[in-house]
Amino acid sequence: MNPSRRTFIRSAAAFAAFPLLPAFSARALPRFQLGPNQRLQLAKVAVGGMGESDLEALSKHPNVDIVALCDVDARGREKYASQFPKAQWFTDWREMFDKLGNKFDAVSVSTPDHMHAPIAMSAMNMGKHVYCQKPLAHTAYENRMLADFAKSHSKIVTQMGTQRSAMLGRRQQLELLNSGVIGKIKSIHAWSDRPMGWWPQGKPMPTGSEKPPEWLSWDLWLGVAPARPYVDKAYAPFMWRGTYDFGCGALGDMGCHILDYPFMAAKLGLPLSVRCDCTDATEDEFPTTETITLKYAATDRTVAEGVTVMWYDNKLVPTNAALGIPDGVNIRSNAAAVIGEKGVMLCPLDPEYEKDSGKVTLSDEPLVWDNNKKSVKLNLPKLDARNHWFHWVDGCFGKTTPEANFPFAGLLCESLSVGAAASHFANRDLQYDSTNFTFINEPKGAQYLKTKYRDGWSVKGLS
Ligand SMILES: NC(=O)c1ccc[n+]([C@@H]2O[C@H](COP(=O)([O-])OP(=O)(O)OC[C@H]3O[C@@H](n4cnc5c(N)ncnc54)[C@H](O)[C@@H]3O)[C@@H](O)[C@H]2O)c1
Repeated sequence: MNPSRRTFIRSAAAFAAFPLLPAFSARALPRFQLGPNQRLQLAKVAVGGMGESDLEALSKHPNVDIVALCDVDARGREKYASQFPKAQWFTDWREMFDKLGNKFDAVSVSTPDHMHAPIAMSAMNMGKHVYCQKPLAHTAYENRMLADFAKSHSKIVTQMGTQRSAMLGRRQQLELLNSGVIGKIKSIHAWSDRPMGWWPQGKPMPTGSEKPPEWLSWDLWLGVAPARPYVDKAYAPFMWRGTYDFGCGALGDMGCHILDYPFMAAKLGLPLSVRCDCTDATEDEFPTTETITLKYAATDRTVAEGVTVMWYDNKLVPTNAALGIPDGVNIRSNAAAVIGEKGVMLCPLDPEYEKDSGKVTLSDEPLVWDNNKKSVKLNLPKLDARNHWFHWVDGCFGKTTPEANFPFAGLLCESLSVGAAASHFANRDLQYDSTNFTFINEPKGAQYLKTKYRDGWSVKGLS
C-alpha cells in the first residue's frame, strides 16, 4: 500500500481494519458535472440533529439518490432502513469512503464542528462535491485549507449549510447593500441571544467518566479531538457547541448566519486584529458573554479607514442610539446593522419567518435610515424563491453557483475562528498573523488557530 495515494493517513489499527481498500482508485474517478439524465449519488455523514434536516431536504431533490448513510449513533440505522432501503449504513465515515468511494458523487456533512474539515477535505480529496454544515470548520487553518482547495478545484461544487442565505429577504438585504443604499460601509454590528438557554458556556470541564450508551461510538464521535471521558448529556447531542475542543461558541454558531451578507457586501478579507472582551472563559469552554471586535483593511465597498466588525452575544445588544436607528424600533435578538456613510441598514436574521409571524415584512417596515434617522424608501429587488439545498444539488449538475461556496464560506469562517480564538486571551488587542496562523503579539495563539489532530488522525491537505 502506498500511503501517498491515500486520501488520509490513519493509525495502524485503522489500516488493519481496512487494509486492502484504496480510498481513491481509478474506478472512483469523480463525475464532476452530471448530465441531465444522471442522478446525484449522495453519501450522508451524520443523520441526527441538523443531519436529519439536511437528509430530508437533500433527499427530496428529484435527482438525488441516497446511497450511503453514516452516523456514530447506531439508532439511525433502523430509523432510516425503510426510507432509504438501498443506502448502506456505516458507523465510521472513513470506512464508508474506503468501501463505497466509487459509488457516490457527493457528500453531505452534518457532524459537530470539529469534524467538518477532516470529512469535507477527505471528500474533496476524492473529487466529491460537498455540502457541509456551518461553521465551515473549527479552526482558522482548516477554514483556509478548505477554501483554498475549493478555489483550486473549481469543478468541485461546494456549499456551507447557511440555509438562510437563500431566503428572499436576506438576498434582498445583500442586493440593497450592493446597490449603495447606505453608501460606503463604515462598520458592521451583529448580535445574537446565544449561548445562554441554548447550551452551556463558561464552565469548567465536566467531571466524571461514564460508559457511553451501547449505540454510541464515543471514540469516533471524538474523532480528531483530544480524548476525554464520556459524560451523559455534557456534549452529545447538541451541547458540545460551547466546548473549545468541539465547537466555535456563539460567534461560530450564529455569526455565519448573521454576518455572511454584510461581510460579502463589504468584500472583507482576513482580519488584521481582534479583541474579545469577556470575563468568564474557562480552559474548557467559551465565555458566557462577550463582545468581539475585528478590524479589516479598506475595500472598494468601504470607507478608506477600513471597517470594524463588532459582535455581541448572550444578553449584550447595542443600543439603537449607537447604531443610528430611531428609538422604539425593535432591533430583534439576532440581527446585524450595517452602518454606511449615508445611513444604516438593519439586517434581521430571519426576515421571512418574521413576516410569517406577522411582526414585520421587509417591504412594509423601514429597514434603512439616513443619517437623520429618517426611514429611506426602498426599491426592493424582485428575486426568485430559492431552496438552499437544491441550489447546491443543481450546482452539481452545472446549473447554479451556490452562494455559500467554500471559497466564500472559508474566508468568512476564518474571521469567526480568529474571533473565537481571541477568547483565550480576554481583553487584549491581538494582531492576526494570517500567514502563520498565530497572533503577532501572542504566539500562544497558534495552538488555537491551528489545532493538532489526535494521534492516529491525519488528513491529506490538513496535517
Ligand atoms: N444550519 C443550521 O441552521 C444549523 C442548525 C443546527 C445545527 N447546525 C450545524 O449542524 C452540525 C450538527 O449540529 P447538531 O445540532 O445537529 O448536533 P447534534 O449533536 O445534535 O447532532 C450531530 C449528529 O452527528 C452525529 N455524529 C457525530 N459525530 C459523527 C461522526 N464522526 N460521524 C458521523 N456522525 C457523527 C451524531 O451522532 C448526531 O447524529 C453543527 O455543525 C451545527 O453547527 C446547523
